[in-house]
This record gives sequence, C-alpha cells and structure tokens, in this order.
Amino acid sequence: MPCEIVVGGFFGDEGKGKIISYLASRDKPVIVARAGVGTNAGHTVVVNGKPFKLRQIPSGFTYEKARLLIGPGVLINPEIFFKEVEETNCKDRIGIDYQCGVIEKKHIEEDRGSSHLHGKIGSTGSGCGPANAERVLRKLKLAKDLPELQPYLTDVSLEINEAIDRGDTVLVEGTQGTYLSLYHGTYPFVTSKDVCAAAACSDVGIGPTKVDDVIIVFKAYVTRVGAGPLEGELSEEEAKKRGWLEIATVTGRKRRSAPFNFKLAKRAVMLNGATQIAITKIDIVFPDARGVSNYDELPVEAKNFIEKVEKETGIPVTLIGTGPGINEIIDRRNEK
Ligand code: GTP
Ligand code: IMP
Ligand code: MG
Repeated sequence: MPCEIVVGGFFGDEGKGKIISYLASRDKPVIVARAGVGTNAGHTVVVNGKPFKLRQIPSGFTYEKARLLIGPGVLINPEIFFKEVEETNCKDRIGIDYQCGVIEKKHIEEDRGSSHLHGKIGSTGSGCGPANAERVLRKLKLAKDLPELQPYLTDVSLEINEAIDRGDTVLVEGTQGTYLSLYHGTYPFVTSKDVCAAAACSDVGIGPTKVDDVIIVFKAYVTRVGAGPLEGELSEEEAKKRGWLEIATVTGRKRRSAPFNFKLAKRAVMLNGATQIAITKIDIVFPDARGVSNYDELPVEAKNFIEKVEKETGIPVTLIGTGPGINEIIDRRNEK
C-alpha cells in the first residue's frame, strides 16, 4: 500500500511504536514520517531485546533504509531530538520540516508550573501545550530559526507527496490517541491539538485522497495517564493482579486501566475512517497467547474477543500483538 497511517484508538500508549516498527520491516517504506503533537509522546520499540523510548524520532527507524521525517505539525525539542538522533544513529537519514515549531525551556517551565495544565489536566510537562498555544498566537519560533537545526531541514510535505506519486510506500505515524484529541476527546482532559487520522495527514502535509489505509491501534484493555474520565476503571490493586498496571514512558506515572471498551472502539473507528485494526497486548489478557504467531494457535477466548471486536466495529483485525518484540505478532495477511 503506497500510503498508510497508524493512529491510536483510545488514550495513547496502545503500543503504536511496536506496530509501526513491525510495519516498517514488513512493508519497507521509503519514508516513515512522524505526525502528532511532539515530545509528550513516548513510543517504546524493542529491538533484539533492547528497548528504545522515542519521543521525536519515528518508530520506523528500525527499518534501516527508510528516510525518517518529522512533519511541520510536530513540535521539536532540540535537546531531545539530538539525544535520540545519537541513540538511534540516524543522523544521515533524518529530516525535519522548516516549519516545525520549537519547544523552549520557558514552555516546559510554564507547563510544569501551571496548576491548570499540570495540576488539573495532568499534562506530561513536556511544554507542548504552551508551545502550541504560542503557535496559535503566531509568536512561536520555528525550526528554520535555529542554526543548530539547519543541517536537518527539509520540505517534508514535498518529499512525501513526491514519493507517493512515484508509487513508493510511505508510513505515517500518529501519536497519542483518539480520546486525547482536542476536538474529539474528553475535553478539557485532552492534549493540545487534534490527533486523529485527518490531523496526522495535516501534520505531514498530505491530502486525504492520498491515504490508502488507516490502521487503528487498540490495546486489549484501556489505559490512561493523567486526569479525565475512564469508564470501568479498575482499582490499582485489581490492575496489578491482572498485570495491567503500566508505568508511563515519558512521565514515569502509573497508568490507570479499564477493560476493553467496545463503544469507544467503534466510535474511534468512525472518527479516523479506519480500515484495519491492530490489537496489542493480547498476551497480557490471555497469557497462553504469548509469542504466538499463528491465529489458529490463539486460545479460544482470545479468538472470541477478536471476533467480537470485528463484529462491533465492522472492520478486520489484521495485526495482533503477542509480546513486546517487533516480531511477536500475528499478521493475518499471512493467512491467505
Ligand atoms: P504513545 O505514542 O505514547 O501513545 O505510545 P505507544 O502507543 O507507542 O505505546 P507505549 O510504547 O507508550 O506503550 C506500549 C508498551 O507496550 C510498550 O512497553 C511496548 O513495548 C509494549 N507492547 C506493545 N505491544 C505489545 C504486545 O503485543 N504485548 C506486550 N506484552 N507488550 C507490548
Ligand atoms: P499534554 O499533551 O502534555 O498537554 O497532556 C495532556 C493530556 O494528554 C494528559 O492527560 C497526558 O497524560 C495526555 N498525553 C499526552 N501525550 C500522551 C501520550 O503520548 N500518551 C498518553 N497520554 C498522553
Ligand atoms: Mg506512549
């Protein structure tokens, strides 16, 4: 498929990083482009047992031939950007758009010092909210204003559109999740912009007619960090008992958890125009699913769950995560 977009279906942390790195190795995209808000996101990718926690670099860095791009809708924190460029050794293939907004120290201080953002909303304290607010006021510095970013600057939308027009494969990675969207989420307990598939297109500069597939990622249960409603929320004790208690990548906070929510899933499929579903962490809910790579070998309860997801949402579950490693996955394309 020439252009595929990956988005989160719940409140972020669905495991998009792992799904994206799998798709990058399977589909061999010429470009992997990062969309989304900025350094508030943390994607975890485990390569040969080594975990990478990425807040800026596209998770598809694991496919070594891909050009890595960051779209103009994404905020850059130069310090985090350079640290990750080094860690992933991608200096020669990463590009950021001239018009990426820049997060400065003052934005981080404002975010962390705000009783509204950090206190009430439970923001990540990464400065994204204050930086996007300044961008709306048209005062924010852009990547092109910073000498240290000059070697990396490029026209991201032009590169991507030319690749799509040539028939090359492009993978666009969204961050956060549908219900953290400023427009479609649980306002005011949301992030500082829309994060659905249409916004991901806009972040990297492609029109909706250029997209072939929208893959929505759901975890087999729901988690949420920060404040805001969470239907069916479990006590910390119950979450621990079930093995659902997670620690957030960016902030180190405990993630709240609840059972899979079919109503939210159905609506998220609608809001994103999703064509396929990826379900992660099926092995946490059904331990016998750990490491399984063939659908037929899943425990019957897990198959029933997958079938129910397909029935309720009306679209196919094409990928099923059975462990954190890139290749711990069932790819149902292999069935045919
Ligand atoms: P955001 O952009 O912040 O929403 O991040 P994300 O969606 O990439 O998810 P994040 O990396 O924050 O959290 C997912 C966690 O689940 C990571 O630790 C992954 O390694 C792990 N993970 C992903 N898929 C699976 C899976 O199928 N099984 C298991 N056991 N772990 C998984
Ligand atoms: P902000 O985006 O840092 O302003 O945070 C606003 C809300 O979105 C808070 O509840 C955060 O916990 C949540 N949030 C932002 N980015 C992510 C993410 O990548 N994963 C999970 N939650 C996030
Ligand atoms: Mg995350």
